[in-house]
Amino acid sequence: MTRNFFIGGNWKMNGSVSLVKTLVDMLNGASVPAGTEVVVAPPAIYVDRVRQTLKKEIGVAAQNSYVKASGAYTGEISPEQLKDLGIDWVILGHSERREYFKESDEFVGEKTAHALNAGVSVIACIGEKLEERESGETSAVVTRQLKAIADKVSDWTNVVVAYEPVWAIGTGKVATPEQAEEVHATLRKWLQDNVSQEVADKTRIIYGGSVKGSNSAELAKKENIDGFLVGGASLNNDFLTICVAQQ
Ligand code: G3P
Repeated sequence: MTRNFFIGGNWKMNGSVSLVKTLVDMLNGASVPAGTEVVVAPPAIYVDRVRQTLKKEIGVAAQNSYVKASGAYTGEISPEQLKDLGIDWVILGHSERREYFKESDEFVGEKTAHALNAGVSVIACIGEKLEERESGETSAVVTRQLKAIADKVSDWTNVVVAYEPVWAIGTGKVATPEQAEEVHATLRKWLQDNVSQEVADKTRIIYGGSVKGSNSAELAKKENIDGFLVGGASLNNDFLTICVAQQ
């Protein structure tokens, strides 16, 4: 089953007017390979600026959104507001949101469903902590997190699942292609057994955690790795090397 390659760039809480211009100029000058989808996620404060200056063949995502359309939720943004700005994607359930802002599996599922209902596509993040991997709980953790999303989502057309082992994020300790493929295959099998064969076949499952230009090609060769969610390397031109990893 061929699935369009998906490359997400998660800028996290990094950016300035100057850096946004540098990155947008870099991306506007790049050629995106046919069959590859590229989406970048600036900090919320810059998403409109990036959307208005970045070429349309590259998508723009927010890094989070709330579970309501509007109201007294100071500091939050809604998928409806993102759609209003022409922002078509949102990252939800990132491990840093789960860790620092105590987002539960269930809350991530609710936010995913709300964003999809608002017409915003979702990069839904899951991944185990080091101690969970070391105690052999990886499959149990990631399928538990995936189930919490599946419990709320009926249409998977606009969902990309991002497997991001927490122990690989920002550490330089990238998962080996074999480690990543094992979990991706487990996730795809879970979708096949618990949602449908079609959803399992069509859903992009991407890997995140210390992806660099130097390691992306080997990871991209794996059958169940459909792309990447890139943090640090999305803030420089190494990101362009990653965008062509499948070639
Ligand atoms: O969302 C992607 C991010 O968590 C990965 O970060 O810096 O390890 O590529 P990094």
